[in-house]
Amino acid sequence: MIKTIESIRNILHTHHELFRNCIPLIASENITSPAVKEACSCDFSHRYAEGWSGQRVYAGCKFIDDIEDLCMELARKFFKAKFADVRPISGVVANLALYNAFTSRNNGKMMVMPIPKGGHISHAPMFTKSGMQINGTAGTVRGLEIEYFKFDQENMNLDIDGSAELMREFKPELILFGGSVFLFPHPVKELSEVAKEVGAHVAYDGAHVAGLIGAGFFQDPLREGAEAMSLSTHKTLPGPQHGMVVADDESIVDNLKFSSFPALLSNHHLHNVAGLAVALAEMIEFGKEYCEQIIKNAKALGKALYDRGFNVLQKDNGFTASHQIVIDITNFENNVGLGGDIERLVERANIILNRNLLPWDIMQGRHYQNPGGLRIGTSEITRLGMKEKEMDQIAEFIKQVLIDKKDPNKVKEEIKEFRRGFQEVKYCFQSPNEAYEYHKFY
Ligand SMILES: Cc1ncc(COP(=O)(O)O)c(C=O)c1O
Repeated sequence: MIKTIESIRNILHTHHELFRNCIPLIASENITSPAVKEACSCDFSHRYAEGWSGQRVYAGCKFIDDIEDLCMELARKFFKAKFADVRPISGVVANLALYNAFTSRNNGKMMVMPIPKGGHISHAPMFTKSGMQINGTAGTVRGLEIEYFKFDQENMNLDIDGSAELMREFKPELILFGGSVFLFPHPVKELSEVAKEVGAHVAYDGAHVAGLIGAGFFQDPLREGAEAMSLSTHKTLPGPQHGMVVADDESIVDNLKFSSFPALLSNHHLHNVAGLAVALAEMIEFGKEYCEQIIKNAKALGKALYDRGFNVLQKDNGFTASHQIVIDITNFENNVGLGGDIERLVERANIILNRNLLPWDIMQGRHYQNPGGLRIGTSEITRLGMKEKEMDQIAEFIKQVLIDKKDPNKVKEEIKEFRRGFQEVKYCFQSPNEAYEYHKFY
C-alpha cells in the first residue's frame, strides 16, 4: 500500500513540476497564495456545519462561524453588497441557487447566452433546439425552458434590440447575464429595463469576471440592475475552488439563503470558506493593482499575437476588456489543424491553453472537440508577476510552435528557462514564496 501512496505522490509531484515549467493560460484557472493554501489545509476540512452561521445543525462550530462571518463581511465589502452567501461549493451550485430563487420548479423560463456564443453548460437546457441531448444543468436539474439572447457577432456581445424583442415575446422569469467567453461587459442596464417591463428577475453569472468586478475594472452588475450575482471564487478572484452568491436587495435574502441550504448543500467545504476569506482580504488589499495588470496583459497579448499574424478577435475594440482573448484559427494557413489539434500541439511545448467554440462554429459544421477558436486568459500569468514585456515573449513562443513550426520540445526548453524568473505568487501578503511547491507533510 505504501507503494500506491508513493506513486500518488509521484504523480502529484510531476504535476506540480509541469506547472512550475509551463505557461498557464486557461482563462478559468488561477493560483492561490500561500496564506490561502495554509487556510485551506486547516481542520475545517474534517468538519460539518450545515445551515447559516449561528444556526447550525451541528455542534463544534463556534470558530467555523467566526471565520464564515468574517468571510461574508469581506465578500460584502469587496463586492459592495448588502448580502453574501459563501456556502455554495462552486459556480454551478451558485447558479442553481439563483435558479431555485428566481424560477418556478416546473415550466420555469430563463434567457441566457448560448454556449457557442459564450454561455456556460450550467445555463443550458437538456436538449438543444435541434434535439441533441447536451444535459445542460438548467434544463436537466431544474427543468428550465431556455431561450437565448440575440448575439452581435461583430462586437462579440449581446444584441440589445434583438434580445429585448425576444424577451417581450418569450417572457422569461429570469434573465441571466455572464458567460465563459466574456470579452466585454454585458448590457445589464439596458436589458434590465426590459426585464422590469416583462416581470423577469435579473441575475448575473460573474464566475469569470468576479475579481475584476470587485476590484472595479469591469462592470458593476448589482448597480446596473442585477438583483444577484453568482460566482466561482477561483478565476479572476484567486481563491480556492468554491462559489458564492451576492445581492444588494434585502427582500430576496431569505429566498437566496434557503435556495442554497437545505436545497443544494449539506457540508459546504468549510476549509475553502477559510481560504476564501484570506483571498478576499488579499483582493481588498492588492486587487486593484492585480486586476488592472490582468487586463493590460490581456490587451498586450492580444496585440502581440495579432501583430504576429494570428486572427485575434475584436482588434477594433482593443481585443478585450477582461482577462480573456479569443483567436479564430479557421483561416490559419499553417496546416496545424483546428482548436483541439492546436491545444494538443502547444501543450507539447508546455503552453497550456484551451480550444473554444466560436459563435459561428456550429453553423459552419465544427464541434466543441475541434472548434475554430482558442481562448486564452491572463489571470494566472499576471499573478506570477508577468507584465506586457512577457506577453510579447509568450506570443513569440506561440508563434514559434504554430507559425515557425519549431520543434515543440525545443520551445519547451526555452519556456522552462523563461519560467525561472516567475516562480512566486504576487499580489498577496507573503513574499518570497514558491508558487507551485509540492508540500510534503510526512
Ligand atoms: C460562466 C461560468 N459559470 C459557471 C461556471 C462553473 O463554475 P464552477 O466550475 O466553479 O462550478 C463556469 C466555469 O468555468 C463558468 O465559466
